Amino acid sequence: MKIAFFDAKSYDKSSFEAYSSKSGIEFKYFETKLNEDTARLAGGFDGVCVFVNDTVDAAVIDKLYELGVKVIALRCAGFNNVDVKYAKGKLHIVRVPAYSPYAVAEHTIALLLTSIRRIHKAYIRSRDFNFSLSGMTGFDLHGKTVGVIGTGKIGRVFIDICKGFGMKVLAFDKFPAKEIDNGDTVKYCSLDELFEKSDIISLHCPLTEETHHIIDDNAIDKCKKGVVILNTSRGALVDAEALLEGIKSRKVGAACLDVYEEEADLFFEDNSQHIVEDDILARLISMPNVIVTSHQAFLTEEALDNIAETTVENIKMILENGQCPNELCYKGGNTEDCKNGKCF
Ligand code: NAI
Repeated sequence: MKIAFFDAKSYDKSSFEAYSSKSGIEFKYFETKLNEDTARLAGGFDGVCVFVNDTVDAAVIDKLYELGVKVIALRCAGFNNVDVKYAKGKLHIVRVPAYSPYAVAEHTIALLLTSIRRIHKAYIRSRDFNFSLSGMTGFDLHGKTVGVIGTGKIGRVFIDICKGFGMKVLAFDKFPAKEIDNGDTVKYCSLDELFEKSDIISLHCPLTEETHHIIDDNAIDKCKKGVVILNTSRGALVDAEALLEGIKSRKVGAACLDVYEEEADLFFEDNSQHIVEDDILARLISMPNVIVTSHQAFLTEEALDNIAETTVENIKMILENGQCPNELCYKGGNTEDCKNGKCF
């Protein structure tokens, strides 16, 4: 079994090599991303392994199909970059539905604490022996209300952490998990109520047509003054231009972004020697109350190990039996999502 591995990074290689040698799968690592121009590199391979910023649209699917590729293995949970509907009947698509919800939830809370306690400023000041505390006043998380949009695996771990801080949780989900609503410290509510009452809003839902720009100027208008917005899910959940306006008008108190709408050409790479063309990102990064990390919330040893193990198993199942519980399907397949009524 030969798999073309796109957008390969050094940390991917070490985790995947640990499993590939045992499984009989041979990975060829390409640093380039998969797109219409690079799809031809997959000639002679049984499958391709891709990540969040590879392009798997109709044109790429057609090329891979013509080349005889049988499986697209996503080494991530989100699949907004894949035209699943178009791939139906042509290629199998598998993903890693969960690898470490703790990694993402813990990174979210790390960003929140860094931001509201000004740790990013303190780190730089003390390295310069500037021990002044002026401008460093933060606020307690205890007693604050956090709005959580998306109460799946990551959202629930995040909620548990917030409960530990003594925060109140207002939750919104298309498919609410009634068992986590205790009518007191964790309550489901409408999106509007969540916007109106939350001191902090954290996004943990997938990017779909419905959730695209779920945080836009309208949503920001409804929010409390000084709201802190956390996005460790997918960039296009937030209208970056509206967020920038919200920051400039002082309506948004702070923003922590691990993902960004136009991240594909920038994130995961060293752009320190380049002139970054994206004025909105540059302006956001220039703000003292905005923290940006480069889609690194998933990046823990445990998550990398789980991603490699599940991806290798997914590929083996599809190539050996033509079936896998982690297969993505468009209306009517055998995936866990279909069984749970969440087929797309
Ligand atoms: P999950 O599938 O367990 O949970 C997603 C939740 O969102 C579900 O409860 C679902 O019902 C809900 N949802 C779906 N449509 C919705 C809508 N229109 N409005 C409100 N809620 C909706 O997924 P999980 O594992 O918790 O991951 C969540 C997201 O986190 C992923 O979709 C992915 O985009 C992102 N992610 C980011 C990573 C990073 O490194 N920054 C790593 C892994 C995931």
